[in-house]
Formats: sequence, C-alpha cells, structure tokens
Amino acid sequence: MGNIAIIGCGLVGRAWAISYAKGGLDVVLWDREPEAPKVALDYISDILGELEDNDLLNGADSAAVLARITIADTMAEAVKNAGHIQENTPEDLEIKKAVFAELDALAPSECVIASSTSAILPSKFSEGLEGAHRCLVMHPINPPYLIPAVEIVPAPWTSDEVVEKSRQLLVSAGHAPIVMKNELEGFVMNRLQGALLEEAFRLVEKGYATAEDVDVGIREGLALRWSFMGPFETIDLNAPGGVRDYAERYQQIYVPIFEQSNWRSDWSGPVMDKIEKDRRERLPEDKLGERAVWRDKNLIALMAHKNKTKKELGS
Ligand SMILES: NC(=O)c1ccc[n+]([C@@H]2O[C@H](COP(=O)([O-])OP(=O)(O)OC[C@H]3O[C@@H](n4cnc5c(N)ncnc54)[C@H](O)[C@@H]3O)[C@@H](O)[C@H]2O)c1
Repeated sequence: MGNIAIIGCGLVGRAWAISYAKGGLDVVLWDREPEAPKVALDYISDILGELEDNDLLNGADSAAVLARITIADTMAEAVKNAGHIQENTPEDLEIKKAVFAELDALAPSECVIASSTSAILPSKFSEGLEGAHRCLVMHPINPPYLIPAVEIVPAPWTSDEVVEKSRQLLVSAGHAPIVMKNELEGFVMNRLQGALLEEAFRLVEKGYATAEDVDVGIREGLALRWSFMGPFETIDLNAPGGVRDYAERYQQIYVPIFEQSNWRSDWSGPVMDKIEKDRRERLPEDKLGERAVWRDKNLIALMAHKNKTKKELGS
C-alpha cells in the first residue's frame, strides 16, 4: 500500500503518526496551520525515547521511527501517494464535510479516507461524495500509540472491502480493531463509558456515594480486572458454569437496579457542584496539567507491564 497521510496534526493526529510509524509505515503530516506539523514532530521526537525505553516501539529504535515521518506543504502533496488517510481536524461537522470533499477529490482512487471523529456518524460527512464507499470512521482512544482499541464504523455505503482493508491495516500496526456492522451514535466505547458515567452521576446526585467513592470503586476495584479482560470474560469467570450460569444466578440482582435507573442526571446541574468540589479539593485546577503528565507516565508503565505479562502468561 501507499503511505499514511495524517490530516490535522493536533493531539490525535500526532499520536496517530507515532502509531503508524512504529507499525513500520511511512507517514506524511499536513495541517491547515503551517506550524502545526513542526510542533507535532517536536512532540513526537521528545516522546519516542521514552517509548523505546519501555519497549513500546515494536522493537524499532526511535530514530528509525522518527525518520518515517515527514511533512507536506499542501494537502495535495500529503495525499499524492497515500494508501490511507487519517483525518483529525476539529470535531465540527462542517469542517469534516469540507475536508472530506477536498480529500475525496485529491486522493488516489484506491486510498481509504478515515476520520478519527469521536462522535460524528460517517454518513453525515461522506453522503453524496463520489468516493463515499471509501469513507469511514476509525475512532481511537487517545493516544493510539499506547491504546490498541480502535473502532471501525462504516457508513451505509462504505464497501466491505474498505472495512476489511482498514481492519488489516490496524492489525498490522499492532491495534485491536472493533468492527461495527452499522453506524450508531456513540459507537461502542462511548456507549459503554456513557452508561458507566450516567450511573456514577446518579449515585452522586442522590447522595449515595461521593465522587471519590465512585473513583475508588473503579480504580481500586472493577478496573483492576478490566485492565486485562472485558466485562463478558469477567462474568464468564465469576460463576462456576460460565456466562450462562452467571446470568441465571445473578440477573435478579440487577432487576431493582434498572427499575431505579429510569431517570437522567443533568451532568452540569447541581450534582456538578459536589463533584467539582470533591475533585478540586483533591487536585487544584493549576495542577491538572501536572497530573496529566502523571497519567501518561502511568499509561506507559501499564502498557509495558501488559506486554510483559502477555509474553509470560499469554493473552
Ligand atoms: N482529543 C481526544 O482525546 C480525541 C480522541 C479520539 C478522537 N478525537 C477526535 O480527533 C479529532 C481531532 O481532535 P484533536 O483533539 O486532535 O483536536 P486538536 O484541536 O488538537 O487538533 C485539530 C487540528 O486540526 C487542524 N485543522 C483545523 N482545521 C483544519 C482543516 N480544515 N484542515 C486541516 N487541518 C485543520 C488544527 O490546526 C489542529 O492542528 C476530532 O474529531 C476529535 O473528536 C479526539
């Protein structure tokens, strides 16, 4: 295949560049702001050493990965030899529509055009394009160079061949694709996250738990297993006879829970005063940036640990 064109080099674009380059692919950066690709490249060159030290570059060295990433002066030049385009412009339908129309006009006919959008359905920005069959969503969790899961979401007219090509590309770059059959608001991961967040807001809003109680329940509880297995595998192992046994034994526990859950919390209503007070007492606003660095270091350490245990214990 051709190279990877990264269109829009902010937070997610620069992270995709690392992900594809460490997967052995040549990557070309372009952004509407002429300085943005240079800023992205500086960020990339700063972080590659740390990834290499933690054996998170698929065995490559940081200089080789960096050498695979170049900058184009125009969108046309960026996509000229592309086999795959990863679009990462702001989360705004009008921008996505305009950028996809431009990309469809410029890209080689065999090139796939994928958006990183967090929530816009692919039909909304690809409808009516000549190359609508080659457009889809590939939604990462940031940063994709550390987090393997990526959602592939086709529009109704995306061809099966394009979905399969995108899946293979992700697998070859070390990702774990989730291939949806049809587009759906929130895709898979935001629907799961939304269900959990909604319950967390409800618990705090009614005073049953504090924001910190909820965080402890996940951080020191459920997420310990969730960091290496999903909820279905978890319940498969939580009853002697597996998932069906779990459902038969424990479904009744959840009956009153869902009867009590048929109301929506207003996330930015009065409940937010409680949550914000709790959070800001634990972490002052001026320390948010510092804590984000701590989070990123933890994520790097966790991924290094997961890779090691996968080798030792199997996946
Ligand atoms: N930030 C996240 O955690 C995250 C996670 C997954 C997906 N996403 C999605 O990825 C996309 C990008 O998000 P981000 O956080 O990187 O945003 P960002 O603001 O950090 O970067 C956007 C970049 O796009 C550039 N840009 C703006 N208009 C453009 C145009 N017409 N052509 C080319 N470049 C243009 C900007 O100069 C900027 O560099 C969004 O759709 C977002 O929903 C974000």
